[in-house]
Amino acid sequence: MIDQSRHEMLAKPLPDEEARQRFVLSLKRHIGGPMREATPVVWAREAEPAFSARVRRAPATREEAEAALDATRFHRFAKALNRTGQEMMWQAIGETIYREESRIRAAAARLSSQKGAGGTLELDSDLAVDPIYRHCFIHLQPEGYLPPDPDGDSVVAGAFYESGGRLYSMGRGITAGDSKALAAIAWLRAYRPGWEPRNILDMGCAAGGASTVYPAHFPNAEVHAVDLGASMLRYAHARAESIGVPVHFHQRDAGRAGFADGSFDLIVSHNLFHEISDAKRREVAAETLRLLAPGGLAIHQDVDLLFRGKALWEEAECAYDFYHNNEPFWLTYVACDFASELRDAGFDAASVSEHKVPKTAGPGFWHAFVAEK
Ligand SMILES: C[S@@+](CC[C@H](N)C(=O)[O-])C[C@H]1O[C@@H](n2cnc3c(N)ncnc32)[C@H](O)[C@@H]1O
Repeated sequence: MIDQSRHEMLAKPLPDEEARQRFVLSLKRHIGGPMREATPVVWAREAEPAFSARVRRAPATREEAEAALDATRFHRFAKALNRTGQEMMWQAIGETIYREESRIRAAAARLSSQKGAGGTLELDSDLAVDPIYRHCFIHLQPEGYLPPDPDGDSVVAGAFYESGGRLYSMGRGITAGDSKALAAIAWLRAYRPGWEPRNILDMGCAAGGASTVYPAHFPNAEVHAVDLGASMLRYAHARAESIGVPVHFHQRDAGRAGFADGSFDLIVSHNLFHEISDAKRREVAAETLRLLAPGGLAIHQDVDLLFRGKALWEEAECAYDFYHNNEPFWLTYVACDFASELRDAGFDAASVSEHKVPKTAGPGFWHAFVAEK
């Protein structure tokens, strides 16, 4: 099995940078662990009773629950610390990335020109992209997904995405070894034993961490991946080449991916939905139907945060990312009903399903919307 955790494109911290990253990791673990566990206690003992005493009824909406929690010193402190931890994470990683940037750029140029693994990179500087991705640096990632690219060789978006994702996952207790793709593949193997898709599309691939898992498990498949930004895709392509995995990366919009009808047996997306609008998600549903071959299957996986049966305090807590972590589509995603949108797009009602997919490392589940053609 290829070790995807070590490769030439990865920004390598010096010892003091690593020490700072370890500190951030401990801080994020504390925020995501003991502090988070205290939220329902603070809700039950302080926030909810104080709100009820003041308004003479219990909080009834997410907004009221937010107000009730925000009235507690604990929650305001927890939120401030959460934001601080996220900013410290990017600063710590940024030190390494900016020190390493010229080496990583040169490595990308060399790896791309060698074409060793057989993958390709197709860029389209004219791709129309929702300006929100330029102006809003999602989850506070420095320079955002679409950084300036004056010399046409930026890889900083991919470098931040991969290094940040590793630290973030470890902070959430998922470990760096977790893979959304491995979780989806394990689910698929159990659901369709022995099935070998010939063509696979990964929508919203970012640094290609999930895209490069599929070829190892489906060695006869041709794997394509799309995302919006050249800086992200240059990194993804060079990263894939450096670990010897052939993936064809394209700068295309997942809602208008442009491949021929029926091009793919398997379409996947990993953590795309919480970063796109309602309208784009519906485009993705229609594009999934158009691009799937007969007998094909799509797995659209994302975080398990949908507001269905969640307690009000949990909804209020979830809203943090919208308000303080630059996640403009977070509250759109948590309320979505993508299964209905897949049916509206033309999938048979019986061919659409939803699943809790166990994480491959650490606790918890991913949420997966599945559609079959
Ligand atoms: C949270 S990242 C997920 C990346 C990757 N799939 C993973 O799991 O690590 C979301 C990615 O979706 C991309 N994205 C957002 N809207 C898109 C669209 N309409 N078409 C293609 N990619 C899109 C963003 O640029 C970003 O790289």
